[in-house]
Amino acid sequence: MKQSALRATSDKTSAHFDQHDWASAYCNVDQELKNVPLTTIKGSIPKELFGNLYRNGPGKLERNGQWVHHPFDGDGMIVSICFNNGDVTLSNQFIRTEAWEEEEKAGKFIYRGVFGTQKPGGPIANAFDLRLKNIANTNVIKLGDQLLALWEAAGPHALNPSTLETIGLSNLNGVLKKGESFSAHPRFDPGHHDRPRMVTFGVKTGPKSTIRLMEFATEGVAAGQLISDRKDNFDGFAFLHDFAITPNWALFLQNAIDFNPLPFILGQKGAAQCLKSNPKDQAKFLLIPRDCGAYAGQAPRIFNAPKGFVFHHLNASEKDEEIIIESIYYKDFPSIKPNEDFRKINFDSIPEGILKRCHISFSSNQISITNLSKQCCEFAMVNPLYQGLKANYSWMAVAERAEGNGPLQSIKKLNLNTLEECFWSASPRGFVSEPIMIPNPTSKSEDEGWVITLVWNGARRATDLVILNASDLSEQAILEFPIAIPYGLHGNWVSSNPPKQ
Ligand code: CO
Repeated sequence: MKQSALRATSDKTSAHFDQHDWASAYCNVDQELKNVPLTTIKGSIPKELFGNLYRNGPGKLERNGQWVHHPFDGDGMIVSICFNNGDVTLSNQFIRTEAWEEEEKAGKFIYRGVFGTQKPGGPIANAFDLRLKNIANTNVIKLGDQLLALWEAAGPHALNPSTLETIGLSNLNGVLKKGESFSAHPRFDPGHHDRPRMVTFGVKTGPKSTIRLMEFATEGVAAGQLISDRKDNFDGFAFLHDFAITPNWALFLQNAIDFNPLPFILGQKGAAQCLKSNPKDQAKFLLIPRDCGAYAGQAPRIFNAPKGFVFHHLNASEKDEEIIIESIYYKDFPSIKPNEDFRKINFDSIPEGILKRCHISFSSNQISITNLSKQCCEFAMVNPLYQGLKANYSWMAVAERAEGNGPLQSIKKLNLNTLEECFWSASPRGFVSEPIMIPNPTSKSEDEGWVITLVWNGARRATDLVILNASDLSEQAILEFPIAIPYGLHGNWVSSNPPKQ
């Protein structure tokens, strides 16, 4: 593992990794740990870190010899890493969803997965079984006194934040109707309108789609309560995984995508495998006014969006008569075809994610777009205190190659003004996951703090916890997990108050 100030290579072709090392992270987690102290093998833990890093992701990828078709179909498992005055402990637990309990008992898959996992027995056994399996595997957040495991097509599962025990499917004190969707990508407004809030959405899709925009209090006695709620209808099918916020707007990118459900109904494909980019169609930015902002109560504004498919946004901000939004664009919707093995994928055959900045002008009704890098990236974030504001820095996971697709092996810090980059690399045998930037509570500087990521250590066939200094990505500490955790999806840092001296 190494840190470098500048990328040494302009390599566009050669592989920096062994496919077996990369694929070895896909394994079942067969242990649930409770507050196990972690061994620091390098560096020291910053004393300023008090709190928990919660992460979610698939922990069960195989049952009775059958593998999931796509890791996104794996059952959610929470990892909690607790930082307390230089000590670090690890806990992990599967979310006891109804389907997890049933499949554990049966010892095999009895539900279909959205990304193509089939029940045993071929298309005949799968046809017309349109039940959704809520696998609770995409993100984990703290709202009020509960931890919520999120999966965007259905409701959240509430967990005990200390023990990680599953409390059950939650309707958030009556906010959500039975089966209503609740995004796995809330955005935390750091206090643009006096107090911090959590802004999130649910989408009901079809030939017309409805977005429900919800804002929740996150502090004080009202923490967890819904404080604003609006619904807007839009034309066309909407696949919305993420969104962005500014003080006045919630921004969505409605991808130009078609959904043909027939192969799903007939048992040949998972629902998400029926999505396909439609180059003849026009992608749209949907801007919904926030109830706390200057345009409260007004109708949404709609702008044409650039070509390409977007899962994730980095950030958005407002300047005069413009909105600026940075997002990761793919040439097409990436999916694993029915006869492909996800562990053997050829990275060159799937499109890479490219970070781009789009200016949306209210005065001219026009948009303009620029590339911020040619390097394949995912999981980008800014300092959370700059959510919705102009940020100067971002941190993200990137492929080792300067161009083209590849597994995520480095963490990059990108200066969003000068486009200057610095890196920390886990290659050749390490593979990074989503970096979480934690601002230093004692500093006012935007890039002071730490970046924490779980790294798959291909040599050790287990997971390492890597803590970097956010300003230059120098190594602060490396800790070894006693277990192997497959590549995860999203997570969040929840700070706690340090004990009084
Ligand atoms: Co996501």
